[in-house]
Amino acid sequence: MEAFRHLDTTTMPWAPEPTIKGMKSKVLFRDPESGAVTIIRSVPPGYGVGDQPFRHYHTSVVERSFYLAGDFPHWEFDGPEDKTGDLIMFRRGLFMDRPPNTIHGLFPHPKSEIGGMAISWNTGGGVGVDDPNYEVESIDVPFENPGRFNVAFTSPRIFMHDTLPWNPHPRVKGWKIKPLAPRRGVAPEVALVHVTADWQPARSGAVVEPTDERRWMFVVSGGLDVVVSQGARQDAIALKEHGYLEWRAPAVIGFAAGAVSDIGATVLCVGHVLG
Ligand SMILES: [Fe+2]
Repeated sequence: MEAFRHLDTTTMPWAPEPTIKGMKSKVLFRDPESGAVTIIRSVPPGYGVGDQPFRHYHTSVVERSFYLAGDFPHWEFDGPEDKTGDLIMFRRGLFMDRPPNTIHGLFPHPKSEIGGMAISWNTGGGVGVDDPNYEVESIDVPFENPGRFNVAFTSPRIFMHDTLPWNPHPRVKGWKIKPLAPRRGVAPEVALVHVTADWQPARSGAVVEPTDERRWMFVVSGGLDVVVSQGARQDAIALKEHGYLEWRAPAVIGFAAGAVSDIGATVLCVGHVLG
């Protein structure tokens, strides 16, 4: 396997979401062993259930999402006896950190008005209702006579990222950081990093040390230039808006001399903090 992979996701074609009928997707990463994916999903307007509500929970998988566009109404439930749930409108800038054992679902109304798009990543398969491993990982929770569940149900953390303040970046003067989620088992930490326009590195070289674990970043807005080094080999990469870059050892990420970003960039960082 290549030690790094760069995708300009804006030029990738949409394909049917393999585990959820009716959605479209761009698969950025898939681990054949665990079924874990990093994926951009598109929900069409009017997407949802028929005339019956639906809800379920996942037993082991951690799911995280960052919403990029549109609207998508979604409901969270405190437990099987909570029949009304809380409506949360997923919109651009919303971040979701969903641990296992959180009941969530859809009511017939309201439905998405203009559709929606999110980048989502998880720690395993079986979460999509059309996934062959759905019955292994996920459990439906009926609204009427839900029965007894010997499960300690919990809640996800779902918030608009702009309700959190930017903090000074711990290493790079002028940059900003916003931690979104800590590491949770095999789900690595998540942060937004803001790269200042016209910022120049004091010296070229690695800014993220190598690791055997896959790390990745996704440019939410703006753009930046990075250099991926593997020994003597160097690849210059111009990351544009919605560009995706994943890497692991021996690859390291660094910068060339000169301005890294003309207009600045807001970067979703998973498993690392850029800079
Ligand atoms: Fe789910």
